[in-house]
Amino acid sequence: MPTEATLTLENQEIKLPIIVGSEGEKAIDCRNLRAQTGYITFDEGYGNTGSCESEVTFIDGEVGILRYRGYPIEQLAEKSDFVESSYLVIHGELPTVEQRKRYSSFLRENAELHRGIYNLLEEFPPDSHPMAVLSAAMNALGCYYPHLATNNHERDLQNFVETSALIVSKVRTLTAMSYRLSRGLALVHPKRDITYCENFLHMMFSEPYHDFLPSPEVVRALNLILLLHADHEQNCSTSTVRMVASSGANLFASVSAGISALWGPLHGGANMAVIEMLQQIHADGDDGSRFVAAAKNGKARLMGFGHRVYKNYDPRAKIIGRACDEVLAKLGRKDPLLDIARHLEQVALQDSYFIDRKLYPNVDFYSGIIMRAIGIPLNMFTVMFAIGRMPGWIANWKEVAATSKSRIYRPRQIYTGHVKRDYVAVELR
Ligand code: CMC
Repeated sequence: MPTEATLTLENQEIKLPIIVGSEGEKAIDCRNLRAQTGYITFDEGYGNTGSCESEVTFIDGEVGILRYRGYPIEQLAEKSDFVESSYLVIHGELPTVEQRKRYSSFLRENAELHRGIYNLLEEFPPDSHPMAVLSAAMNALGCYYPHLATNNHERDLQNFVETSALIVSKVRTLTAMSYRLSRGLALVHPKRDITYCENFLHMMFSEPYHDFLPSPEVVRALNLILLLHADHEQNCSTSTVRMVASSGANLFASVSAGISALWGPLHGGANMAVIEMLQQIHADGDDGSRFVAAAKNGKARLMGFGHRVYKNYDPRAKIIGRACDEVLAKLGRKDPLLDIARHLEQVALQDSYFIDRKLYPNVDFYSGIIMRAIGIPLNMFTVMFAIGRMPGWIANWKEVAATSKSRIYRPRQIYTGHVKRDYVAVELR
């Protein structure tokens, strides 16, 4: 393998070092290009840009590989759960029995919110989008822990174990409580003797006089959804977290920005958009064929299809597609939207438009159907993604904060606006 690339520019030969990752990924190191030549690289959408070195997650989109800290997603989905995988993603290793016990206890003991956060949640209009509420509440949470949110990376890192677990624990309470408050439901506080996902379902669906007892299948399905979302390397929200972290910002502020970035329909908002699309197709009496035709004509976008990185098949979609059938069967439910989804998938997988563009179902195509079956309201689908993605954001924040030579993220641009012109007085315009 070459150790450097040669770029010829204005009769000058520039040598650019080659960087190779632990899985053999190759990059041309352009860090000194501008200093040497005055040129920058232009890569709108960053499809060819490596913005960092990272040890958290490996993806090979050409063959559909996803690994957290080296562990294949298929093995984690089968053998692990969200809490254990979140520890793995955040701390780099699977926890020992003792570490796992301590981590789980911390998550349980810190699930409750400060009274002030309840007041904050209560002030949002009832139909506020849960992503807006979560992003604001997450940033506000930092105000209750000023010693953990100093904006001094050295100090914030000293408390990283505590801060990271606090956020993983509280994000689920924030989400469940904002749901209850938005509906005027009595608050149901977290319990100390049930698991992470059971506690979430308890806070969502129990009543003060009646405990909601989810079936093991529902708890397992929720674990699976969260685990499959735990990290996905340098996507839009994670890059946002790193960008914010690079300024020195604390973990609460950085993941709050990640939540905002996740909200959009091309990213985390896609799981909501998939169900809205399936509902619309159902309401129109279409089996999906007309919608596929519209997508091919550029009049619609098949939500839950396509991925910037996966050009084979999203491995998470395979796992969740199977789980979808199992959960609905175990709950004894039929969902007409699942039939439409299956039909859409079949049609699209045989159609040259989708084949040529390598468009396959992504993780969001089926996760929404499971969440519907569990009883999670549609407008909360994206916050479920945010709970799941929290470990990845946290791990990426730590990488930025812990890199001693890390520089503030500051891309360049090609300016295409007006060249210099003189100010015109208002009466002359
Ligand atoms: N339906 C129909 N056509 C599509 C779709 C789709 N879902 N996605 C891409 N295309 C077409 C697109 O029109 C373009 O066609 P042409 O070459 O003729 O102009 C071609 O495929 C390439 O598309 P692109 O927009 O350049 O691809 P991208 O890599 O910029 O976008 C994407 C990736 C995920 C934003 C896009 O596929 C999309 O909008 N999908 C639907 C939204 C979605 O499901 N998002 C969730 C992603 S998974 C969760 C996550 O990790 O964030």
